Amino acid sequence: MQHQRVLVLDFGGQYNQLIARRVRDLKVYCDLKPCDMTVEEIKAYDPIGIIFTGGPNSVYDPASPHVDAAIFSLGVPVLGICYGCQLIAHTLGGKVEHAEQSEYGKRTFSFVQDSPLSRDIPKTSVCWMSHTDHVTQVPQGFAVLASTQSCPVTVYGDVQRRIYGVQFHPEVVHSEYGNALLKNFLYGVCGAKGDWTMANFVADEVAALKTKLAGKKVLCAMSGGVDSAVAATLVHRAVGDGLICVFVDHGLLRKGESEEVMAVFRDRLGMNLIRADAADRFLQKLAGVSEPEQKRKIIGAEFIKVFEAEAKKIGAVDFLVQGTIYPDVIESGKDKSAVIKSHHNVGGLPSVVDFKEIVEPLRDLFKDEVRRVGTELGLPDPVVQRQPFPGPGLAIRIMGEVTREKLETLRDADLIFREEIAKAGLSGSVWQYFAVITNSKTVGVQGDFRTYENVIALRAVTSVDAMTADWARIPYDVLETVSNRITNEVPHANRIVYDITSKPPATIEWE
Ligand code: XMP
Repeated sequence: MQHQRVLVLDFGGQYNQLIARRVRDLKVYCDLKPCDMTVEEIKAYDPIGIIFTGGPNSVYDPASPHVDAAIFSLGVPVLGICYGCQLIAHTLGGKVEHAEQSEYGKRTFSFVQDSPLSRDIPKTSVCWMSHTDHVTQVPQGFAVLASTQSCPVTVYGDVQRRIYGVQFHPEVVHSEYGNALLKNFLYGVCGAKGDWTMANFVADEVAALKTKLAGKKVLCAMSGGVDSAVAATLVHRAVGDGLICVFVDHGLLRKGESEEVMAVFRDRLGMNLIRADAADRFLQKLAGVSEPEQKRKIIGAEFIKVFEAEAKKIGAVDFLVQGTIYPDVIESGKDKSAVIKSHHNVGGLPSVVDFKEIVEPLRDLFKDEVRRVGTELGLPDPVVQRQPFPGPGLAIRIMGEVTREKLETLRDADLIFREEIAKAGLSGSVWQYFAVITNSKTVGVQGDFRTYENVIALRAVTSVDAMTADWARIPYDVLETVSNRITNEVPHANRIVYDITSKPPATIEWE
């Protein structure tokens, strides 16, 4: 079934993915596409509405991205946000000028005229602004619909032609009725039906995979992470035993995780899942290695070798499943910034597998949609809500050399931290939380005896995309319980510290 689609044209603003996610959350499928899409390409895409995003440029700068005015003659509703709002005015003969006063942050705006955009929104409410230019004169046929004290044209539109501009950012949560405004545009202006639901996605995707993969041999590398788990489960629904999954257990997962992968995917879902138990091999390779980048490289290379050996046993396959998700698709092709840490992901696998084609069943989904699909497919919460976990696993949470004893201490301490965060009801509000075993020993006193044991650090951060992060303000009493429990229950740990560094200057992981 073809869903109704909205086209989000990307003019380079920092909230562009967020706009697309909001539209999807409102049950309307959308794609984020480069702003230089031609009118012919847009016609072929056949959107029910077009959204222009914000961007860092000024419309009167000749080098800034512009649009072909023919877009406005397609008869498709258009909503311009921030730069997009200014671009509509500029293209259709209105006026955009440098504002006397830039507006950043929360502002109060008031509707001065009713329109389909203002339905169920109070006359006056708070919006979130971030601009220096603004529209000073609307194009012919348009009316001013809302203003703030210093921005006379906050919302404007032509109700007949269904073209609107909004100077503020309806996609950010600080815009009180931003979501309502987007909803009004989608449902009240574009005629959306709300046909983008995860149940529909699963039904359609499984049907499509059935056709594509019928009678074929399919291989998937499972890491225990959300994306590969959901991708494998979708494909399994479509082809059953045609799918072979290989789970490389490097022995560096958290307590109980390896067992959980087997219990859920092999035992409960009945997948053809091969576990390559390579813990000893990884530990041997890591013996004596302390340098973080060296650890990462060893683990990455070893992972590929173990997988290759398993893939050889399986022989040639028709398809290789990859858990690529939509943000990866959007990001690919953009410049990658400097390598701070060499990330190890399954991206290097294709070169060691004898396959004909790659299949990426999640390439249209945002992370939160992937989780919802997982739930729809019946995967348990611990799998679907799993926090981000680095490919090199606990090796980069053990400072200095990785040893069996340190691994065991860390696993036990980490489990206690996870349990207490869950008990305190904090798991949903913290992005990542874990224990680190430092490379320091300190003196303690336990039961009248002197001890000389490891310092365990606790790390918990809030973040939206892991690019920046702040240390989480975990309540003292929760930290106290964790500290008491670890020092009482875990051998070889006699001191607990809490990491209060943001990213930057630190990173989320310690290595
Ligand atoms: P940092 O430590 O760079 O981490 O602030 C940012 C996010 O990425 C995760 N991370 C990794 N994920 N392979 C991954 O798949 C890796 O090698 C890796 N290293 C860090 C980290 O847990 C955080 O969520």
